[in-house]
Amino acid sequence: MRIRKRRLYFTFGVLSSLIIFLHILGSDIALYGREAEWQSTSLPFIHSQSEGPTFARNRPPEAQSQAPSTSNADDSKKFGWEDLPIRHPVASQIPLPTGKPLKLPKIQYDFKAEDRKAKVVRLRRQSEVKKTFCRCWSSYKQNAWKMDELAPITGRGTESFGGWGATLIDSLDTLWIMEMNDEFEEAVATAAEVDFGPLSPLSDVINVFETNIRLLGGLLSAYDLSDDERLLEKAKEVGNMLYVAFDTPNRMLMTKWRPIPAATGKEQTASESVISAEIGSLSMEFTRLSQITGDGKWFDAIQRITNVFAEQQDQTQLPGMWPVVLNARDMNFTMGSMFTLGAMADSLYEYFPKMYALLGGQLPVYKKLYEGSIKAASESIFFRPMVPGNADILISGEVRTDVKPPELFPHGEHLSCFAGRMLALGGKLFDRGEHIEYGKKLTDGCVWVYKACPLGIMPESFQMLPCADPHDCTWNRDTWESAIFKKSGNWISDLDSAEAQETIANMHIPEGFTSIPDRRYILRPEAIESVFILYRITGDREYQDIAWDMFEAIEKNTKTILGNAGIASVITKEGEDVQLEDRMESFWLAETLKYFYLVFSEVDVISLDDWVSNTEAHPFRRPK
Ligand SMILES: *[C@@H]1O[C@H](CO)[C@@H](O)[C@H](O)[C@H]1NC(C)=O
Repeated sequence: MRIRKRRLYFTFGVLSSLIIFLHILGSDIALYGREAEWQSTSLPFIHSQSEGPTFARNRPPEAQSQAPSTSNADDSKKFGWEDLPIRHPVASQIPLPTGKPLKLPKIQYDFKAEDRKAKVVRLRRQSEVKKTFCRCWSSYKQNAWKMDELAPITGRGTESFGGWGATLIDSLDTLWIMEMNDEFEEAVATAAEVDFGPLSPLSDVINVFETNIRLLGGLLSAYDLSDDERLLEKAKEVGNMLYVAFDTPNRMLMTKWRPIPAATGKEQTASESVISAEIGSLSMEFTRLSQITGDGKWFDAIQRITNVFAEQQDQTQLPGMWPVVLNARDMNFTMGSMFTLGAMADSLYEYFPKMYALLGGQLPVYKKLYEGSIKAASESIFFRPMVPGNADILISGEVRTDVKPPELFPHGEHLSCFAGRMLALGGKLFDRGEHIEYGKKLTDGCVWVYKACPLGIMPESFQMLPCADPHDCTWNRDTWESAIFKKSGNWISDLDSAEAQETIANMHIPEGFTSIPDRRYILRPEAIESVFILYRITGDREYQDIAWDMFEAIEKNTKTILGNAGIASVITKEGEDVQLEDRMESFWLAETLKYFYLVFSEVDVISLDDWVSNTEAHPFRRPK
């Protein structure tokens, strides 16, 4: 997610929206202050290296004395999170469905045999993707082995997710899928040595969501693919650790969790403001862990949260969806006023249809959650932008209900590009043809934005001009020019004047956009993810050509000697060099390159009828 991915942008989003509304909404300033404060307190985790305590990996004696001792006679016995007494046990567990899975509709297109020429092109493209992965992987091995991330320009290793080897564990299943068997074996042996004890993280606060999607998800997926028991053992260790974060009076999750106080038996209480994706996106990983181990405690833990979402789905200010910030302490998920499928919310929604598939259709609540939220999103969040060429596309925006009537913010994000995939999958699973159409148009919208930007790559966030009537949406340059002037605070009466035209040129905003608040591209996967799924669902080979164009643009502009690096601005001026940033997020190897590889694979590799992926692109086996 991908708050993970989502946090920095949030400040931009709030700021830009705030500037617009400040005059109208005096009373909202307090709320903004709280969100902003929340924001700044969440950042240190990302930069935990400088903030975190200095003990960690090698336990110094003074830190050791704080740690609980579960061993009595045998001092060498490892600390086990599962041995920690539970302060707030459940009265009775919500049972994991173990009945016969329903026969769900087929998801993948019925592909016909491929002609020889097409196959040659496909395999050549696939080998280019693999080459890029190999370059990054061997550089990670050489320069940042066992660390969270490789800095692709300076070649340093960085610890951005607690120091448990995020890139190592996140990449396991990609190594398997790319048939890099020796590398996989070496990575599994190394991952099996990672310590998940209470003193192991390099930060005193753990982001449970990130740990869950990258580490637990990565281990479970690699286990599902390879059946290697060492991976299941590690997955259980991580699962037992994260389970402790649910040990609160109301069994709501501590999303920002402190392992050391938890391990010493301190009381924990869930927060009054948690991010919806951070509390709502543990369901797939915890369910899969319960399915594999037969121990239902993990499923019970997430299903209690699902039930709160389900009970309050129609009580929010945008019935069907939930605000991005929720009160977990009072279990009141209805009070916020900002609604989006993008940053901070995304995987909450993404997991509803996927959970339905993972449970073999045995829990109708996930269908209800999906259908209710998509009804609201299609009525209020999706919009058709006015663009040159009049392409019939959709963008997923934001709704704010703190103004009357509630207002659509035509604010697109790279993160929201997963929506095309979600709608196409939901459309297949629940036999809703119109959802597949939405899925196509949302994916086409992301592809349109890629192509409209000078480097052929989408920025983190952008704004467009929604057409009031999606059936009457013809490009009008004057309307666009007035809109960008309004947005930028300029007021020019004569749009055709030399002054006006010069101002427009100086803003460097490609036609069709009204502003570009965050011009970075940080190697994100969501657009190729949707292109890949749409290819597998529709069988339309044009998606492979689209994917190839995207790959070439990204590789050309982000490649470094040591890896691939994020771009500071994808809106370059003519003749200007591309500025790179010294970070290669673990999702580049875990997600982006995996989807680029899979779109050029045989269609039975990770078939959508056998596998369903978590939000970090880790495929879990579907029940048969
Ligand atoms: C949430 O809080 C509001 C305001 O206090 C209250 O009106 C509403 O009933 C609460 N909803 C739930 C589900 O607790």
